[in-house]
Amino acid sequence: MKRVTFVIAVAAILAGTQSLTAQEKHEMHLKASINHAIAVIVPTKGNSVRGTVTFEAVERGVRVVADLTRLTPGKHGFHVHEFGDISSDDGSSAGGHFNPMGMVHSMPMSDKRHAGDMGNIEADEHGIAHLDYVDPAMKLDGDYSIVGRAVIVHEKEDDLKTQPTGNAGPRIGCGVIGIAK
Ligand code: CU
Ligand code: ZN
Repeated sequence: MKRVTFVIAVAAILAGTQSLTAQEKHEMHLKASINHAIAVIVPTKGNSVRGTVTFEAVERGVRVVADLTRLTPGKHGFHVHEFGDISSDDGSSAGGHFNPMGMVHSMPMSDKRHAGDMGNIEADEHGIAHLDYVDPAMKLDGDYSIVGRAVIVHEKEDDLKTQPTGNAGPRIGCGVIGIAK
């Protein structure tokens, strides 16, 4: 009796395997992993910042590369917020910092931080900012993926300690994080 069950089980597994074509398996693999994402930053009402933020899955996390223009010189709070909804004039529809683990607000290299905490991006005297770092906690895939959420650029510097916002002030720019090639 046990042997019969075993044979049926093996037959069922083989039948299941054969029902997927090579093309279907390839598509399943593609669906299972997102390696690149991008957010195009546009200004909220009354502001001027523009640029791009790209995300790439790398061995030690996610490489974040941001290039922004038309900022005021100095540091600006820079986060992934919960919702990919940038329909409001002031960016408030994007919700708070993306925080699926229920952590405290902190900085990218902290063990305890919001998943969306990217710290600050600093603009030079021409209002141009470039940021390039590998974020050890960010995910493009799975339950804690940042895809479909929003990048927010703030008017002021994130102090990396005030809860839960870093006291970074108004939201001057925003962009929805989408899958990229
Ligand atoms: Cu923010
Ligand atoms: Zn935060």
